[in-house]
Amino acid sequence: MTTNFATQVTLPKSSRAPGLHVALIPDGNGRWATSRGLARAVGHRRGVRPVREAAEAAPSLGISTLSVYGFSSDNWKRPEPEVREILGCIREFVASERARCVRDGVRLTVIGRRDRLPRDLVAAIEETERATARCAALHLRLAVDYSARGEIVAAARRSAAPPDARAFDGLLGADLGGRSPDVDLLVRTGGEQRLSDFMLWECAYAELVFLDVPWPDFRRAHLGAAVDDFRLRERRFGGLPRGAASPAT
Ligand code: IPE
Ligand code: IPE
Ligand code: MG
Repeated sequence: MTTNFATQVTLPKSSRAPGLHVALIPDGNGRWATSRGLARAVGHRRGVRPVREAAEAAPSLGISTLSVYGFSSDNWKRPEPEVREILGCIREFVASERARCVRDGVRLTVIGRRDRLPRDLVAAIEETERATARCAALHLRLAVDYSARGEIVAAARRSAAPPDARAFDGLLGADLGGRSPDVDLLVRTGGEQRLSDFMLWECAYAELVFLDVPWPDFRRAHLGAAVDDFRLRERRFGGLPRGAASPAT
């Protein structure tokens, strides 16, 4: 019997999901500001609008989950006033977007650690998560005090004492996969081409798009172009290219 390998490829869960999972690394706020002689804080404040725009544009682009890197666990290394500014912008966003999210059917949740965040930020997060819990047009996930390695280590701890290595893989994958679907497309602005500890597990087969545009200048057209680029790519997940099934030799 001829084995058509291509037809045996089992598509991962995300491919069967109702829409795309897009991850955004909004980088370049500081450089945007300093190149204009402005304080880095101004760049962070100007970085709020593009997040809102991306969320507004997402459903019409076929995106059902949008994960945005707001503050990494390594960003605690920055000077305290800048950290306060970034977390302040996030609190402002989470609180001010609540009504709009409910109106537009956007479920807003926050991933990452909460135990080191200011109490008023945690309160705003909890209130918005509660208010938007039943919304289903888009799942907007903000990553705050987030570390992908930290998430993997935490999942490993929860998968405690498995009987054998295979069970461990299954438990770990189910834990991480149950919390977050695989990423289809990752977009990073600001010119750097790295993941900076963002969604390492979920990005195993993500298509990567790196843009030179600094985040404050990011508009819905950039997101649309990235999704168009993504749709032209052939995803193989380790299988063969479409139509490349060869006779068994
Ligand atoms: C990204 O912009 C925003 C956060 C890290 C919160 P940066 O602040 O990293 O901007 P650049 O990379 O220094 O320009
Ligand atoms: C990644 O950007 C974190 C966020 C965008 C929130 P960074 O600016 O912190 O990453 P590195 O330091 O350039 O890798
Ligand atoms: Mg940066």
